[in-house]
Amino acid sequence: MSKLRIALVQMLVGANKAQNLSTASNYIAKAKSQGAELVVLPECFNCPYGTSFFPEYAEPLKPGNASFDCMAEAARSNSVWLVAGSIPEEVITPDSEKKLFNSSMIFSPLGELVSVHRKIHLFRINTETVKFDEGEVLTGGDSPTVVPISDGVSCGVGICFDIRFPQLALEYVRQGTSFLVYPGAFNVVTGPVHWELLAKARAVDSQQFVVLCSPARDESASYVAWGHSMVVDPWGTAIAEAGVGEEVIFATLDLSTIASTRQKVPVLKGTRTDLYAMEWNLARK
Ligand SMILES: *[C@@H]1O[C@H](CO)[C@@H](O)[C@H](O)[C@H]1NC(C)=O
Ligand SMILES: *[C@@H]1O[C@H](CO)[C@@H](O)[C@H](O)[C@H]1NC(C)=O
Ligand SMILES: *[C@@H]1O[C@H](CO)[C@@H](O)[C@H](O)[C@H]1NC(C)=O
Repeated sequence: MSKLRIALVQMLVGANKAQNLSTASNYIAKAKSQGAELVVLPECFNCPYGTSFFPEYAEPLKPGNASFDCMAEAARSNSVWLVAGSIPEEVITPDSEKKLFNSSMIFSPLGELVSVHRKIHLFRINTETVKFDEGEVLTGGDSPTVVPISDGVSCGVGICFDIRFPQLALEYVRQGTSFLVYPGAFNVVTGPVHWELLAKARAVDSQQFVVLCSPARDESASYVAWGHSMVVDPWGTAIAEAGVGEEVIFATLDLSTIASTRQKVPVLKGTRTDLYAMEWNLARK
């Protein structure tokens, strides 16, 4: 595989879960009809964004549960890879405790669930205008997620706040990924300053493609998403970008540009691992 056509579904997310799921399915079919081989949905695509909504909308990621069934069928019937944004995942632990994760299901074109990425870094923000702590209701995941797509091609998955950690992106580089997919819901405070900057930063420091998929902006929502879903190539150029409304954008990832970029600017080869540890322990900063 030398090229991969992808679609990002920047959809409006409302309070009606069944409607959100069926709209997502319709967009996946539309993306397929326009040549997409892999489709990405936004973070939190089945529920409004807000810690108060997560318990009510949470589901196990299993057959028999609406979001799982609907997405498995959408991937299978359209024969596409599907990075199904994220939803609140409900997990009952062996000692009957209920835990919620912010999780992304990844389905193969056969409709099989091949991976689940549980958001590793929970979102915390404390500015004058926006305060939010996912740690109040969610549990963080504990492993990076690499999805094998075809011979020699794989992608790394992160959710939203995960993009702020270059360490995770570099771990994906180490595992040989070709692109990084981040379903995300930045807001109108961090979005204008950090969204595009982080997409380009991760693309340039990992020298691979970076894909960010946001929900469409809803000014009346309690959490107003930034929009601007985008795809950045290994050189750091945005090759596709959405506005703020509901839309599907497409990009063709020419995977040969990963090697050519690394040849032009050999930063990964030039890494002086003898001078700095890759295990960064910055937790106390
Ligand atoms: C989700 O449901 C809401 C209604 O609650 C609707 O306004 C919105 O368009 C739906 N979005 C999608 C993507 O289905
Ligand atoms: C998930 O599916 C199981 C089996 O169909 C069902 O018993 C359970 O109520 C579902 N949970 C949710 C939150 O939909
Ligand atoms: C997951 O985390 C992101 C922030 O990084 C947040 O926008 C989103 O609402 C969360 N979604 C769920 C389903 O918990």
